Amino acid sequence: MLAPVQVVVGDWAAGFLAEYQPLKLAAIEGLTETTAGASLSLGGIYVDGRLRYGLEIPNALSLLAHWDPDAVVLGLDQAPPELRPPVNVVHWSFQIMVGIGFALVALGAWLAWSWWRRRDLPGSPWFLRAAVFAGPAAALALEAGWVVTEVGRQPWVVYGVLLTRDAVNPHPGLVAGLLTVLAVYAVLTVATVAVLRGLARRGPVAPQERADVR
Ligand code: HEM
Repeated sequence: MLAPVQVVVGDWAAGFLAEYQPLKLAAIEGLTETTAGASLSLGGIYVDGRLRYGLEIPNALSLLAHWDPDAVVLGLDQAPPELRPPVNVVHWSFQIMVGIGFALVALGAWLAWSWWRRRDLPGSPWFLRAAVFAGPAAALALEAGWVVTEVGRQPWVVYGVLLTRDAVNPHPGLVAGLLTVLAVYAVLTVATVAVLRGLARRGPVAPQERADVR
């Protein structure tokens, strides 16, 4: 239901990035050279310093980032190669997030249309199939969003101030802490799945039964 809000917030985030983290935006779009009237790229792969095989929408990046189709968008050339984020990881995480975002909006629109016309869910089994995938897909979009944010600002941990490699904690006990957290979460995951499977096997409780329990 909140997918349309996410699209609006996403557009706002693009403007914010253009101002405060221009290299992240350049990596999202695989934009090597600082360009006036920059295109928005869908898909494609970044090889030899260039985004290839993508679908380009002319001037759309300038429009999204600055509300002006001819505005200058800063490219990766604003930083030396060792201070640029890994473009393909960031670009593709962004494609996955936005692709899923628009697919969720389409699914919501389908439901709204059907509800408006017939006061019922869409009759097609494809709607139910898509609804099954919508939950995991939203979780995947969320993870992809975090990858865009965190990988996109590399190699900085504090943008323009502190490099990630200078912020690494060299304490030797950290591996034990990490393994303990992983073990605790593994146990919690197994226990949660076991409880949910148990509940599902028992099936729904009839209202009459529920009253008896009370
Ligand atoms: C459909 C259009 C969408 C656009 C244009 C968009 C745009 C963006 C942008 C530009 C960022 C980077 C922000 C930054 O690093 O400062 C971002 C981060 C993120 N996005 Fe999206 N997004 C969209 C959809 C989605 C959807 C559907 C989800 C999840 C269901 C999602 C979850 C996230 C998350 C969790 C982050 C990291 C949040 C953070 O840095 O605090 N996005 N998004």
